[in-house]
Amino acid sequence: MLVLARYPEIGMNGMGTQPIASTGTFRERRLPDPCAMVIFGASGDLTERKVIPALYYLVRERLLSDEYSVVGCGRTPFTHDQFRDKMRESVAEFLHLSAEERNQFPQGFGKRLFYQQGDFGEAAAYDKLRELLEQLDRERGTAGNRLFYLATPPSFFPVIVTGLGNARLARPQAPDQNWTRIVIEKPFGRDLASARDLNRSVTSVFSEEQVYRIDHYLGKETVQNLLVFRFANGVFEPIWNRRYIDHVQITVAEDLGVEERGSYYEEAGCLRDMIQNHVLQLLSLVAMEPPAAFRADAVRDEKAKVLRAIRPVPFDRVADSAIRGQYRAGHARGGPVPGYRSEPKVAANSTTETFTALKFFIDDWRWADVPFYLRSGKRLAKRASEIAIQFRRVPHLLFRDCATQRIDPNLLIVHIQPDEGMSLSFSAKLPGPVMKIRPVTMNFRYSEVFNASPPTAYETLLLDCMLGDATLFNRQDAVDLSWQLVDPILARWKEDGDRGLAFYDAGSWGPAEADAFLAADGRVWVPPDTTH
Ligand code: BG6
Repeated sequence: MLVLARYPEIGMNGMGTQPIASTGTFRERRLPDPCAMVIFGASGDLTERKVIPALYYLVRERLLSDEYSVVGCGRTPFTHDQFRDKMRESVAEFLHLSAEERNQFPQGFGKRLFYQQGDFGEAAAYDKLRELLEQLDRERGTAGNRLFYLATPPSFFPVIVTGLGNARLARPQAPDQNWTRIVIEKPFGRDLASARDLNRSVTSVFSEEQVYRIDHYLGKETVQNLLVFRFANGVFEPIWNRRYIDHVQITVAEDLGVEERGSYYEEAGCLRDMIQNHVLQLLSLVAMEPPAAFRADAVRDEKAKVLRAIRPVPFDRVADSAIRGQYRAGHARGGPVPGYRSEPKVAANSTTETFTALKFFIDDWRWADVPFYLRSGKRLAKRASEIAIQFRRVPHLLFRDCATQRIDPNLLIVHIQPDEGMSLSFSAKLPGPVMKIRPVTMNFRYSEVFNASPPTAYETLLLDCMLGDATLFNRQDAVDLSWQLVDPILARWKEDGDRGLAFYDAGSWGPAEADAFLAADGRVWVPPDTTH
């Protein structure tokens, strides 16, 4: 039943329990090879909240082979059983398991979990890991396939990569029979120079084809649907350009604050945390040319071309293209909340931005002069991620004398979360003798049409990685290009300190300066609609 609920495709095809290997429409169904997945940073937040629950779902839905095993690695001394117990508690909490599912955990998913304690900087840790992996190959049939997952703070990335290289764990033992891959979590550096350093240390040990840089936004179902929408329908692509589109808005709004991550966020800020990666990835999918095939390099080539064509913001013109804000105390999620500067591990005079609004132009044939407005922030009024495509107004107002003075332009909205779907608004005549016009909306809601909630991004991406499909992962050139775009803005903001930092109440839609920013272009932000 669960399989039907989460993967409607299986039920619709009457395929019973036959597994599907990828949720992507384009990709063939196959079961990933048996493998041992090694998670570095096994007792961290990311492992407990995202990675292990996603693996649990995949196993429960029979999308992984029976031999699939997971090795947690970390400094905390756990026995295998202690680690299993800890993961059971996390899965139970984050996936709201029933008492029965919780009881079945040790005989089911729990049996696939192992733990290897060690210090990431010590060679001995990798020797012990290799022994365990060889044992799993013999006893569990993991077949020499290895997936290393770096879920640690980024300062450990080079250390672990070097450790794996020195222990001869980075290359497959028999390249024609088994594989070795590595998944790296963001942040990929904190500017262009550090991103390049990180890449150098990773690629001195692993080849680019082995490296999977994860951006979980690319695994979100509606983000993939955007590609289907654009390239599997004939009607939209002909109008997907400067002749018909007035501008594009991408909003990634969160109602949460920085929670327990104050020290990380102080160093990052919204531009690094959200725009450099997630939001620019969304932009590249909206704006890219049709790839020749739905294959990793074909798609990634087109995305990189978009990033390359974005007009850089010069250091001395940053204020024309970028707004930054920080939340004050206010009301969010049903109660009073403190301002950013009062959050734990945040400096009382911090100038870190928790909100960013930007304007970019893509200097190419398709998008010349079409502004792309991007905004993201914490402690905004609602959690809502949307892409709004605003079409041009009609060229001639035929209904000038009617009771309606203004006709709204067509608006296509891709709702990424929380309620996945798309909506198109257009003008319609109100019933009655008078010519009155008002906008109406045509809605596609994922949950209604497919009677299912989409898989989480981590399920999709982990499965793709095990299948060796890198389409939805970041290539280094895209990472570098994104840093090139944000670096001058970061440098300018650093120099300006608190000059130009705007403030907004927690629970609002950001600083008034962000509204003025669009108003200066004669435009307004499209209010995110979480109930479309
Ligand atoms: C992460 C950021 O990459 O994305 C977080 O580091 C942010 O600050 C998160 O909260 C948002 O992800 P989602 O899937 O909840 O929109």
